[in-house]
Amino acid sequence: MAEAKAPQQRGGNADNVFAEDPAETGLRFEVDGEIATITLDRPDKRNAQTFATWSALARIGDDLPDRVRVVVVRGEGPSFSAGIDLRMFTPEGVPGQGSFSSTARLGAAAFEQRLRQAQRGFLWLRRPEIVSIAAVQGHAIGAGFQLALACDLRIVADDVKFCMKEPALGLVPDLTGTKPLVELVGLAKAIDICLTARIVEADEAQRIGLAEQVVARDGLDRAVHDKIAGLLSTNRDAAAATKRLLQGARSRTLEEQCAAEGAEQAERLRALFSSQP
Ligand code: ACO
Repeated sequence: MAEAKAPQQRGGNADNVFAEDPAETGLRFEVDGEIATITLDRPDKRNAQTFATWSALARIGDDLPDRVRVVVVRGEGPSFSAGIDLRMFTPEGVPGQGSFSSTARLGAAAFEQRLRQAQRGFLWLRRPEIVSIAAVQGHAIGAGFQLALACDLRIVADDVKFCMKEPALGLVPDLTGTKPLVELVGLAKAIDICLTARIVEADEAQRIGLAEQVVARDGLDRAVHDKIAGLLSTNRDAAAATKRLLQGARSRTLEEQCAAEGAEQAERLRALFSSQP
């Protein structure tokens, strides 16, 4: 779909996306017109993620070219992502990034700063100006599941295996995944999924609202391509305004939502027709 670009051709100031060792970020980033593609690219390690991955994600969000309307997050190889790099659980940790035992010794403020930086890599995927699509095949475990949850839409292969493994490892999911999970599947199902750390396969994922679409493994790229075509067929500014409305709907009363619809529509009408006689 998107053509890989040399680092100096990436959008915005995306050169510094890979300030850390590219082998440790484990990401590729390509921009093709209105479409950006982020590829988790450590297939030999099942696209395990590190703090460097999340810092690079945050920088991609910071530097995303304005022209981009759709962001695809995908994984190379058999798994979308096997979650956090298990070296974090060892005393040695990940070179240059520490370990959970070194993180445990951080003061509260330093820990908060480190976590916020990691979460920043996930949060921008919900911006109104873009639609983010997770294309998920195979395992999406822990941080992998949460990265898929950070996206607006999940198109999944029929071999998908979602698992919120953190509670089984003594941790909580802290990469922004708990809120979208509850909003998608409801509190009871979210408790069931997280507190058993069980695997959710494709049929169930679609039934409970985790996945918008399930396709054969070899049809994943085509399904994402078709969805992008649909998303790009609508008006850019109307799409962003509509996403803002939809995102705010849950926290507003019906009356407030009606007022918000009016405000967005007034802006649209001004933009479309104010220059007409
Ligand atoms: N971190 C680092 N390396 C990993 C990870 C990981 N999370 N997951 C897999 N790998 C490595 C394996 O060590 C192996 O490396 P090697 O070839 O050098 O020995 C390679 O990836 C392939 O792994 P396999 O287990 O052989 O692959 P398989 O396809 O059979 O299984 C699966 C995939 C199910 C994802 C399995 O690798 C697994 O359970 N991984 C750990 C998942 C996990 O517990 N993640 C942490 C979740 S908590 C969180 O994210 C906060």
